Amino acid sequence: MTIPLLDLRAQFQTIKHEVIPALLDVVESQRFILGEPVARLERALAEFIGVPCAVACASGTDALLLSLKALLLRPGDEVITTPFTFFATAGAIHNAGGKPVFVDIDAATFNIDAARLENSVTERTRAIVPVHLFGQMAPMDGVLDVAQRFGLAVIEDAAQAVGARQQLAGEWRHAGSLGMTGAFSFFPSKNLGGCGDGGMITTGDPDLAERLRRLRAHGGAKQYHHEEIGTNSRLDSLQAAVLLAKLPHLAEWNIARRTHAAAYTEALRDLDGIAVPATALSNEHVFNQYTIRAVRRDDLKAHLTEGGIGSAVYYPRPLHLQPCFEYLGYSRGQFPEAERACEEVISLPVYPELTPDQRDEVVEKIRELHR
Ligand SMILES: Cc1ncc(COP(=O)(O)O)c(C=O)c1O
Repeated sequence: MTIPLLDLRAQFQTIKHEVIPALLDVVESQRFILGEPVARLERALAEFIGVPCAVACASGTDALLLSLKALLLRPGDEVITTPFTFFATAGAIHNAGGKPVFVDIDAATFNIDAARLENSVTERTRAIVPVHLFGQMAPMDGVLDVAQRFGLAVIEDAAQAVGARQQLAGEWRHAGSLGMTGAFSFFPSKNLGGCGDGGMITTGDPDLAERLRRLRAHGGAKQYHHEEIGTNSRLDSLQAAVLLAKLPHLAEWNIARRTHAAAYTEALRDLDGIAVPATALSNEHVFNQYTIRAVRRDDLKAHLTEGGIGSAVYYPRPLHLQPCFEYLGYSRGQFPEAERACEEVISLPVYPELTPDQRDEVVEKIRELHR
């Protein structure tokens, strides 16, 4: 049996009858840029996340970049984030004119360690970008507390966490509803993925939403009149049509991912040399990735590949050790938890359409190496 890390074709078969007519409608209309489906998607996602406003854009990277551009960073302004994330998080900080400042992760959840945040705040710090990694929200109580005390903006990198929730002061809140903005990605492998690139910014601030709408269209409120310098970052109607067809299924897909994750955890928790992922008590995880630690990670990856099972290492190198960030002056050993995670993590197939038999096969292959 061959089991891919992700099987988008299996998902497409279940929703083809909804996606194709929606795509055809857009093609018939010949209105491809922004347009009515995009406005509808903005309203639907805002409602799903529980925020007043959502602004669609071209990618998750741009959702971060536009949010950061709205801060009007000056040279030397610092933005705190995690070194254990996809490159876009820190790349966007640099491209918006900021200086990325890294804070190590919590070993149990892979998310930024809120207890270490305060020590990294300086008089140049402007914002914190917590990343809700693999589908589990970062500890927002700690992040918001530091942000509030030091007057910092919070931009949630929710690219991997659409639908994830956290209990704060007794209330369940969605990823993307707590910061100044939330940045979402509709890259096809995300829990809500389009047929190409796409992104969304959520915010509770209608004025900021208007500014972000201008920034995604070269900073102009009216044609050929530009208040500030933005960029071209629009979602097209074809992507919005696909995403509108998929959004009603998202909650059930996230439940299916959680069911797979619980079964893996049950089956793998006692194996020597394997550590199953932890979910913080206050979190509802949506498992964009089901990521274990394995002492013999590279052997395990090779063994799974040989057995026809897809897996991936997210991420093999922490951002503070990327060549392009050498100028920041970090060195190996500075963020030991992020560095250890890079050596130990491996993500397993956890897509909603995975069958229990396929899941058992993945478990069996892992057991073969840990008897
Ligand atoms: C944590 C994180 N941030 C940002 C992004 C960027 O999203 P996009 O690929 O849509 O630009 C991704 C995408 O993989 C991501 O995983």
